[in-house]
Amino acid sequence: MSEVVVVGSFNVDHVWRVASLPQAGATLGGDYASGPGGKGFNQAMAARRAGADTRFVCALGDDAGAQLARTLCAADGIALAAQPSELPTGTAGIYVDAAGRNCIVVGAGANAALDAGFAAARVADGGHPAVVLAQLESPVEAIAMAMQAGRDAGATVILNPAPANAAVPGATLELAHILTPNETEFAALLGRHVGERIEPEALSQLDQQRLHAHCRALGHDSTVIVTLGGSGCFVSHPEGQLRGDTVACYRVPIEPTQVVDTTGAGDAFNGALAASLALLPARAFAEHVRFAVRYASRSTELAGAALSMPRMAAG
Ligand code: RIB
Repeated sequence: MSEVVVVGSFNVDHVWRVASLPQAGATLGGDYASGPGGKGFNQAMAARRAGADTRFVCALGDDAGAQLARTLCAADGIALAAQPSELPTGTAGIYVDAAGRNCIVVGAGANAALDAGFAAARVADGGHPAVVLAQLESPVEAIAMAMQAGRDAGATVILNPAPANAAVPGATLELAHILTPNETEFAALLGRHVGERIEPEALSQLDQQRLHAHCRALGHDSTVIVTLGGSGCFVSHPEGQLRGDTVACYRVPIEPTQVVDTTGAGDAFNGALAASLALLPARAFAEHVRFAVRYASRSTELAGAALSMPRMAAG
């Protein structure tokens, strides 16, 4: 019972490194590379490379991208449950600037065809998963069914509500034991579900109690971790459900690194968190978060998304 099941997207990332991110109407020169990505696959890779037995549930086309997914899962020992689709495998166009910041356009392709019944049925295929981890680059019905299947199997369910522009019903948020938005996603969710307007950039400056109150307004019964880029992250537990911690809210700073590319850093955090929870269930929650922050920081030292996930075991 230490398996992590990740339900989500696989994309072939097409990446251009540019001096600065393009403005409307601009034509820029940049160095090109392509590689595996997709929030789901990046998170599965992180969970696996952090030491957890990992299953990845997704939808793939019948093309070179799908073959890449199969080859990489086999190479890293990820159990792949792929629904075949007539649509092309997902793609993403990514610009990365000199400071390692990015901007991304996703062509969902086969990811948009992930079937709810398929996803839910595959969640417990390997027995009783310890953790089910999902994001929002796949149809929300499939994500909700997979999360429910995770709950039914007794797993800890994590929803990384990314990207920020993906709409998610309140009932789906409530299926998560742990929510892990970044500041942009958190501000978007607060606007949509709580009716509170707040600038994403302002979040890291808020005092602890105000940020905790925002998290409680959104998360009700779930632990909320807001990832704050260079400012680390903020953890907020519901009263009486501290997951082994001694306080209901706290900040975790990042470790300084030589940042090359932040693409997939949030995915690294989520995959590592899932692996740590699955492998070391007796640990205090703050220890899992500290490991995930360390893991995500290390992932920014290499270019690329899935292939920048470090081999660094939880524990
Ligand atoms: O989170 C990073 C990922 O977002 C990229 O790998 C890209 O595929 C998009 O899904």
